[in-house]
Amino acid sequence: MKILVVGSGGREHAIIRKLKESPKVDKIYAAPGNGGISRDAECVDINAMDKEKMVEFSKNNKIDLVFVAPDDPLAAGMVDTLTENGIRAFGPCANAAIIESSKVFSKNLMKKYNIPTASYEVFNDPHKVMDYIEAQGKYPVVIKADGLALGKGVIIAQNHDEAQDAVKEIMEDKKFGDSGNNVVVEEFLTGPEVSVLAFTDGKTLKPMVSSKDHKRAYDNDEGLNTGGMGTISPNPYYTPEIAEICRKTIFEPTVAAMNSENRTFKGCLYFGLMITPDGPKVIEYNARFGDPETQVVLPRLKTDFVDIINAVIDGTLNKLDIEWSDEATACVVMASGGYPQAYKKGLEITGLDENGQVSGATVYHAGTKYTDGKFYTNGGRVLGVTASGKTLDEALEKAYSAVEKISFDGVHYRKDIGRTK
Ligand code: AMP
Ligand code: GLY
Repeated sequence: MKILVVGSGGREHAIIRKLKESPKVDKIYAAPGNGGISRDAECVDINAMDKEKMVEFSKNNKIDLVFVAPDDPLAAGMVDTLTENGIRAFGPCANAAIIESSKVFSKNLMKKYNIPTASYEVFNDPHKVMDYIEAQGKYPVVIKADGLALGKGVIIAQNHDEAQDAVKEIMEDKKFGDSGNNVVVEEFLTGPEVSVLAFTDGKTLKPMVSSKDHKRAYDNDEGLNTGGMGTISPNPYYTPEIAEICRKTIFEPTVAAMNSENRTFKGCLYFGLMITPDGPKVIEYNARFGDPETQVVLPRLKTDFVDIINAVIDGTLNKLDIEWSDEATACVVMASGGYPQAYKKGLEITGLDENGQVSGATVYHAGTKYTDGKFYTNGGRVLGVTASGKTLDEALEKAYSAVEKISFDGVHYRKDIGRTK
């Protein structure tokens, strides 16, 4: 098979690495890919949002399968366009990807189908939001832009002034463009967070092994929210009992709800959960593999990834047993100094071999460039250094000792991955 993977981050690198293990795969392309990915696949210079060029390339190169990994092309209907052109594609259609791209949609869906989530109200008028928040007088309060915002559209306001600033930025200054036309104001929940990715063909849902993301920039969960600074799998808070409650009250009801709305979801459905004192609740849905969750989940997959992808597309997931390793995995993200705010690019990365790897770990490249045999930084999150072990401690120890071999100017990483709630 010839496979084209759409996207350019650490998640896509992990997807490509797993696809390469399949005996069914002859050739992998990435559009547009990155420096590290270029050592494992052929990178083609097509923007991840360019539907027309993706179709043209797939036809010209007789691509058997296109794997659409990022949120924005999914929301923009990349899978719809590919499919209409007779090209096999993995990922939800736009009418199902809305479960991630509109928080108003997903909150209303959960309310309608009784899926546990934080209580909320939706507003399209900045004055009415503040009237509501003031009348409630409860802080912290959670304010979310409706649409996609690179994981930065959620503000937890500790007081009136912070709430007012957030509403102004989202709704008046339009920091996230039209994504801020509507906002969701939500009850603040507490408890450990768990990420569960699940394969679904719209009928059967098969959860993958659990994971935990560390979203804040600095140790002890301080600093701004980021795309994710590190992950571990399994998540120690996700017990078999919690998993069973999630299956019954969240996972299966979500698949059924999407079918009832004529928005059958096929692909990877991501459940961002919080284990609250009242039980597990949905914080967010994503219509795709998480980044950097994929970097710790896929290495544990033992079943041929291509077989699973085919079963999802063909609607035969019920016939497939999916096997996972019992090992623990840990991923430490090495980021550019300053991330998630302004940072420099183009700094030389030292310590990597010619394939962008170090011994003792797998290095998934997120924001890198490869020129004349050297790797350079090219994004906020640069590398996801991932290792596995019999225990979480062993995985973390291996990942951190690999991290110590790699460096670039201003490098920043968290020292407490796997150690916080
Ligand atoms: P989201 O992009 O919706 O996953 O939100 C980003 C982060 O904000 C989550 O991972 C949580 O840590 C936090 N968050 C979102 N909603 C809530 C909530 N209702 N209560 C407490 N924390 C929340
Ligand atoms: N790591 C969170 C996400 O992929 O949205």
